[in-house]
Amino acid sequence: MIGAGYVGLVTGACLADLGHTVLCVDRDSEKIEALSAGRVPIYEEGLEAVVGKNLESGDLRFTTDIQEAVSKSMFVFITVDTPPDEIGRADMTHVEEVARSIACSINDYKVIINKSTVPIGSTKMVDTIIEESMEEHLEYDVVSNPEFLREGTAVADFLNPSRIVIGSDSQKAVRLLTELYRGLDAPLLVTDPVSAEMIKYASNAFLATKVTYINAIANLCEAIGADVREVAIGMGYDERIGFEFLKPGPGFGGSCFPKDCAALLAISRDHGYDFDLLDGVLKVNQEQHERTAARVDRMAGGLKGKKVGVLGLSFKANTDDVRDSPAIKVARMLLERGAEVIAFDPRAMENGRRELPGAGFAENAYEVARGADILVLLTEWDEFKWLDYERVRGLMASPRVMDARNCLDPVVLRKLGFTYEGIGR
Ligand code: UGA
Repeated sequence: MIGAGYVGLVTGACLADLGHTVLCVDRDSEKIEALSAGRVPIYEEGLEAVVGKNLESGDLRFTTDIQEAVSKSMFVFITVDTPPDEIGRADMTHVEEVARSIACSINDYKVIINKSTVPIGSTKMVDTIIEESMEEHLEYDVVSNPEFLREGTAVADFLNPSRIVIGSDSQKAVRLLTELYRGLDAPLLVTDPVSAEMIKYASNAFLATKVTYINAIANLCEAIGADVREVAIGMGYDERIGFEFLKPGPGFGGSCFPKDCAALLAISRDHGYDFDLLDGVLKVNQEQHERTAARVDRMAGGLKGKKVGVLGLSFKANTDDVRDSPAIKVARMLLERGAEVIAFDPRAMENGRRELPGAGFAENAYEVARGADILVLLTEWDEFKWLDYERVRGLMASPRVMDARNCLDPVVLRKLGFTYEGIGR
């Protein structure tokens, strides 16, 4: 596994758990040292246990030595990051470097697997780099095998995948990779590499569109006096629509949707197709962040000098990841509008502090409420649903709640004396 980031770490640890012998490589020696001691640098349910168990059994090992890892392995997964450049295109520098390193270390037949979300045509590109960088020609295949793990449930998702997609022109590689995943019960789809790469982008962009659609419907529900939660349930019963991804909120975020939508848009432009729909999705999503901040402003009667308590910093619950987090974006907008922001997150405090230099941070949700003119709930952590809101009201300067995730019961809160607003209800 080349790259012990989010995807590499989860995939590596879970493949070890399936009974394979896995070497995870990263050039960050501090990270490798920590992982070798069983310390996992990200919060992901169940991951530390899987890493610990397989370190102990010897099925999982961490190293900085890419040559050792490649030469000793039959399968080489490329799981390095592909950060976006200024116009949203995925930066392939790390993938290219890894491809060259692999070429120098091949000693025998290898299946080289593109697991990172990479631009269309990358499987071919990696193949070409390896071919050109290899000193003596040895047999290998490059395949695309996109991952569909969600943060927060990544270990469970690995063990129960919705599908396994293998994009390859080589029957040998497909057969071997299928064998590697034996033990996982999931539909297997074998395609050409370009289609496999497209499946990943098309899936993420579709889900981002679905969230954006329900956000737009929520905004309309507010204008006409409907309740979006009822509307979503009524829509979800139609199996063609389904109940998933119909929760309105402050806009989508995270390390995947924004980046992948921007990358797909850039790919479309490069190929002469105006993907106006996706362009619209990104615009509406940005507006959704802004609408959330504007609503807090309106509810508080202006934000200059007001104290705003922010509940949640991670991009969704059950992760400490704040990359492209809507909570962080909204909190920044509140700061720009002149508010004093005090924030708390059950897991993402350390990451949040780095991203929000102008804000204050509290030890817990009650300390956030102390003296606040308004509370804004931005991440749907369970513990925010079960706070003692009577106590919260007593601590606040004025009892106002903007519930950007529709986690709370408006009837209960209003009875307690709060001014409450959710999204689309
Ligand atoms: C997403 C995909 O769901 C995974 O299948 C994919 O593998 C992953 O990206 C990736 O490409 O690596 P993830 O970024 O972990 O997973 O997060 P999601 O659970 O999909 O949520 C994305 C954003 O949409 C979050 O900000 C979340 O709060 C928001 N969302 C999601 C809503 O606002 N409403 C919903 O109903 C669902």
